[in-house]
Amino acid sequence: MRIRRQYRLPLYQQRAGNYLWNSAESLLNDTDFWLPEKQVCMEVGCGRGAFLCQLASQFPDIHFLGVDIEPYLTAFTATRAREAGLKNIRTLSADISTLMEHLPRHRLTRIYLNFSDPWPHRRHEKRRLTHPRFIQLYERWLNKDGALEQKTDNGPFFAWSIQQFQKVGWSVCEIEHHVGENGLSTETCSYSGKYIQTDFEARFRQEGLTIHYLLAIPPKTL
Ligand SMILES: C[S@@+](CC[C@H](N)C(=O)[O-])C[C@H]1O[C@@H](n2cnc3c(N)ncnc32)[C@H](O)[C@@H]1O
Repeated sequence: MRIRRQYRLPLYQQRAGNYLWNSAESLLNDTDFWLPEKQVCMEVGCGRGAFLCQLASQFPDIHFLGVDIEPYLTAFTATRAREAGLKNIRTLSADISTLMEHLPRHRLTRIYLNFSDPWPHRRHEKRRLTHPRFIQLYERWLNKDGALEQKTDNGPFFAWSIQQFQKVGWSVCEIEHHVGENGLSTETCSYSGKYIQTDFEARFRQEGLTIHYLLAIPPKTL
């Protein structure tokens, strides 16, 4: 699978065009993306991009950024967005922990963490995307109305994430343990990703797994 992906990477990179930033520096310098009048939302670990593409088509006036550590996936997402005619998506392949200086401070309206790897072993907890070392980055990047949404099928990881947010002073103001079990609402409330299905989510729902959801707000220090 990995070999097939790597083989296709140049093809997707070419088809993605300027939807795919090739470096964190070019991300920062893309003034058309960071227009002051546009809100910007970011998915960390965007995978194949189903979630971002749906959101971008529902909210054409908002700009969406997809970051994933795996180059093939950001190239795939960018190609998917471009071929769907969505002008408000850009992607970057990077480890999110390396972007501290490359994302403007207090500029993002929302951050989405969808089905992030749970890293179940204790010795790996620093790699979980809700570890305090990541939460402090999210706090730096979110604006004064900013919030973070997390969805996961992993109950222990979800409970641990709630503890981490609270430990560093965030308010976890919405927690739901069975999102969408009575059907996915078509409610589209202020760019919420709660009812927007990701690629992993579609698979997990078919398997009958429980989907947990939270909305967390950083301490108001601005
Ligand atoms: C389980 S997948 C979920 C993909 C997608 N959000 C979905 O729900 O379909 C987790 C994704 O997070 C990405 N990822 C893991 N650690 C990351 C990091 N430190 N920075 C950026 N992306 C990361 C992985 O490459 C993978 O694509």
